[in-house]
Amino acid sequence: MADVLVVGSYIADLMSRTPHMPKAGETVLGGPFQMGPGGKGGNQAVAAARLGAHVTMVTKVGEDPFGEEAFRNFSREGINTNWITRDPDEATGAALIAVDDEGENMIIVAPGACGKLTAADVAAADEAFTGADVVLVQLETAMEAVEAAVNLAERHGKPLILNPAPFQEVRDDLLAKAAYITPNETEARLLTGIDVQDETTAHLAARKLAERGVGTVIITLGRQGCYVFTDGEGTLVPGVKVNAVDTTGAGDAFNGALAVFLAEGDEVHDACRKANRAAALSVTRPGTSPAMAYREELDSL
Ligand code: RIB
Ligand code: NA
Repeated sequence: MADVLVVGSYIADLMSRTPHMPKAGETVLGGPFQMGPGGKGGNQAVAAARLGAHVTMVTKVGEDPFGEEAFRNFSREGINTNWITRDPDEATGAALIAVDDEGENMIIVAPGACGKLTAADVAAADEAFTGADVVLVQLETAMEAVEAAVNLAERHGKPLILNPAPFQEVRDDLLAKAAYITPNETEARLLTGIDVQDETTAHLAARKLAERGVGTVIITLGRQGCYVFTDGEGTLVPGVKVNAVDTTGAGDAFNGALAVFLAEGDEVHDACRKANRAAALSVTRPGTSPAMAYREELDSL
């Protein structure tokens, strides 16, 4: 069984549909309200667990009802919660998410407790690094927690996937320790200054990131799939066409799946092909963590 360690955020997602995104000062009458487990780290952990991996989650939540729900959610999904800590002074992270009629989304994240995840919290999970095949980290927690995760993965000789979402500046010495980096178009532009639109611009951005020392660069391109740059060679791995109802969390579906298939020993392009399918399935359903695909579904797509 593949073993995936996720160091990242748990966020309670507060979602509403809207006929269009509101402009400044505008109030829009939206559709139904939905609440569910989310956060980039939490979503990626659920995505990996549903594909059959043994998953351990390192995060921090508050001593509030949303924090209780985090434990219930992870336990339901069979995820190890031994290293999830609670902050008595901070609320569990929450996100305000609007999804329009095209399935596109806008998100404001209030990280709360997971913004207070410390290097010491991550170091306490040392044992989890020992057992991991792949370590997966995002940028939705405090940067000191990201750094600690990157350094511990290196010390234990474990391949690390750095999903630079949401965008924060990352030091080159940290980038150089990532075996894989997985920005979307926006994050790739913020990291490189190159406006990523298609295969050609993805190639330029990927090459620039590789020059900063990352092993393999994978730029996710929404419905177009992803661009994989490894050993100086770039390849577009095409996406799967589906009817999108809600694209929120598609990147998380991709990253969780990528971690599982790499941990199972797949070659990177094969892992990306499967991860594209997992992402495609997730956008056909509303919500974030609850929309993640199960192994059987992926095999039958
Ligand atoms: O990537 C989607 C996630 O981003 C949502 O679940 C929300 O919590 C935000 O963190
Ligand atoms: Na979705």
